[in-house]
Amino acid sequence: MVTPRPPAAREGARNAAAAGGALHLRRVEISIGSRRLVGPLDVLVEPGTCTTLMGPSGCGKSTLLSWLAGALDAAFHARGTVSLGAEDLTALPPERRRLGLLYQDDLLFPHLSVAGNLLFALPASIRGRAARRAAVEQALGGAGLAGFADRDPSTLSGGQRARVALLRTLMAAPRALLLDEPFGKLDAARRHEIREFVFGRAREERLPVLLVTHDAQDARAAGGPVIELAAPGAMEA
Ligand SMILES: Nc1ncnc2c1ncn2[C@@H]1O[C@H](COP(=O)(O)OP(=O)(O)O)[C@@H](O)[C@H]1O
Ligand SMILES: [Mg+2]
Repeated sequence: MVTPRPPAAREGARNAAAAGGALHLRRVEISIGSRRLVGPLDVLVEPGTCTTLMGPSGCGKSTLLSWLAGALDAAFHARGTVSLGAEDLTALPPERRRLGLLYQDDLLFPHLSVAGNLLFALPASIRGRAARRAAVEQALGGAGLAGFADRDPSTLSGGQRARVALLRTLMAAPRALLLDEPFGKLDAARRHEIREFVFGRAREERLPVLLVTHDAQDARAAGGPVIELAAPGAMEA
């Protein structure tokens, strides 16, 4: 899908370029009790590229993304570091990491319109009601959703909801994308379209992307390296 670049997206691209960072995981290990779930794992994701993590259910993929986002459940113990460019993120709280997460069940707020959902994510640095609304309208237009601003999320198709969820993630001007099986609930046609949309935006904005999936077609579409994670219990701490 070829889309015009709205100012908000250019802003995001500038931010990403300014951050200029590869996402780098070094010697990452995640354990629960005495059982090692993930790692040791070393991954370097260059800006504008996507690395795919594959592995069976329960092997710790979502747990790893939670750790990267700075929101690991206290039941787990993690070692290793994550950095973005020259900045070590390991000890930063989630909001200062500025990473964009997208889940399979990325629920839009049902009590807000489509525009309300996007305004919620827009950085406070974009000031003024009119400017904020314009940024949302332009982002929607660029995603083939012109005229959808005032729609109730419950009236959207699955593919439309997926695009709004992705826009919401991108509008926060993240410095990297963490995708947790984001295409899992889409039918084959939508899946292809949304994949192209996600990977296209990530390339344009030079974002490093870490994709978790168990669909080999997702991995092929991502076009980057694929890392297989071991089944849970395969490694003992
Ligand atoms: N909060 C938690 N407390 C204890 N165990 C958990 C918690 N969350 C997930 N787990 C367990 O950790 C393992 C990894 O889960 P998860 O990262 O969700 O796997 P995946 O995303 O690869 O399917 C599973 O065995 C799961 O049951
Ligand atoms: Mg998971």
